[in-house]
Amino acid sequence: MSWKLAGSLVVFVVTLLIAACQSDESLEFKRYYSSGALVYQQHCQNCHGVNGEGLSALIPPLSDSTYLRKNITALPCYIKNGLKGQITIKGKTFEDAMPANDLSPVEIAQVLTYVSNSFGNKLNTIDEQSVQKSLANCK
Ligand code: HEC
Repeated sequence: MSWKLAGSLVVFVVTLLIAACQSDESLEFKRYYSSGALVYQQHCQNCHGVNGEGLSALIPPLSDSTYLRKNITALPCYIKNGLKGQITIKGKTFEDAMPANDLSPVEIAQVLTYVSNSFGNKLNTIDEQSVQKSLANCK
């Protein structure tokens, strides 16, 4: 085998490895995201809307990336136990209560990955482990 051929073989294998690693990560994201879309349709859409637009002064939109990022570790608790009290979303105040949801940690991870990567948001994958960790520390 010529050196040139061996060299291009090495480049080829390294490229393959890099591609495999990336698609592992994006595969995980895609799995969480697509399952999350279904959880959203069944458990959230009635209130928050198809496009996460919310409902007038009653239900906040889900497009406030700054709020989501700031409260990222508390979000699983909000979803599981509900949320009440005044909050400010996109400069408007909301004070109706969100009821508790009977969802498993993996479903919470899926729906939060969906929400935080839809409606103009672009955050990370929220995986099951980080949801478990958050749920152990709910206030
Ligand atoms: C019965 C209506 C209702 C349902 C169903 C509901 N929510 Fe909410 N949600 C609310 C209300 C009302 C608030 C504001 C609570 C407050 O003011 O303290 C809220 C707040 C939130 C917030 C924080 C504020 C914001 O706009 O980012 C998030 C995130 C959220 N909901 C996500 C979800 C997800 C995900 C689901 C489905 C698992 C869901 N909600 C289901 C009514 C609902």
